[in-house]
Amino acid sequence: MITTAVSYQNSALQHTNSPHEPVMPGEILDYLKPVRDGIYVDATFGMGGHTLALLKAYPDIRRVIAIDWDESSILRAKEFIHPFSEKIHLYNGNFTELPVFLEQEGINKVDGIILDLGISSYHFEESGRGFSFKRDEPLDMRINSSGRNNAYDIVNFLNEDKLEEIIRLYGEESWSKKIAKVIVEKRREHKIQTSKELADLIFKIIPRKFHSQHIHPATKTFQALRIAVNSELDNINHALAIYPDYLNDNARICVISFHSLEDRIVKDRFRSDDRLKIITKKPLTPSQEEIQINPRARSAKLRVAEKKEEYLNVL
Ligand SMILES: C[S@@+](CC[C@H](N)C(=O)[O-])C[C@H]1O[C@@H](n2cnc3c(N)ncnc32)[C@H](O)[C@@H]1O
Repeated sequence: MITTAVSYQNSALQHTNSPHEPVMPGEILDYLKPVRDGIYVDATFGMGGHTLALLKAYPDIRRVIAIDWDESSILRAKEFIHPFSEKIHLYNGNFTELPVFLEQEGINKVDGIILDLGISSYHFEESGRGFSFKRDEPLDMRINSSGRNNAYDIVNFLNEDKLEEIIRLYGEESWSKKIAKVIVEKRREHKIQTSKELADLIFKIIPRKFHSQHIHPATKTFQALRIAVNSELDNINHALAIYPDYLNDNARICVISFHSLEDRIVKDRFRSDDRLKIITKKPLTPSQEEIQINPRARSAKLRVAEKKEEYLNVL
């Protein structure tokens, strides 16, 4: 076991070269318990924040297999992964495809997996794909540009009942009926083209007295559309069902989620999986200090599970 103490010091981890501030990096490093010569998977590489923090804190790690579904994240990574480029093996694909990537690496087990769910600040601020209600961009919301459906299709062509169901189930939005009804009325006049158009519409649909001071009224609908476009919950379910088979004994899986739908899946999957021992009985949350520095972290929940030693793996 590598013995570097990694009790979290913001200052020690701030300069990771990544343009994205990783969420709960200290906790991830502490709980992952990296081993010398270990091979790790960063299944949601993004801007490499966790991978770089891991390699900086544990230079004896042999390799990080880094996956991201968004081709532009992988392309951009090449700009900032130096001096760890040799150790970071990048794959552009869905994290559900881990077995394929491991086969390409010539291995069938790893020493730990990080899953930091959702999308990164790059998607909201720079991708131009309509993830943010603050920007006037085409309604796309696909993480991977070869995906079949985009948000424009859902908003403009799905029938009202199905649209309402998406907004209610994936956004947990109590105004789902009204929002779906007005969207369908509006799109009869002309198609809803941009994120701002949609955000402005929802802003008007939800009565002012129900607007929260801090959260834009379109937040839940945007979350719902993104989840639907990218089948995000199916992907998490699928990944967590297969990942334990690819963990060495005592290796850990650390999952950061950002909303209750994701967290519920992680909690239920961990609880019902007899290959795993739960390490975090309750989810860990970021410190106030971290939230101040990185407000994106405020809704994060980290759950950790460990591969049981006695589990007879029949891969
Ligand atoms: C929250 S960000 C990760 C940020 C990263 N940990 C960092 O510190 O830079 C989530 C990333 O996961 C990617 N992603 C989302 N769904 C994915 C999937 N099904 N397969 C692979 N990557 C996915 C997104 O493109 C995004 O870059």
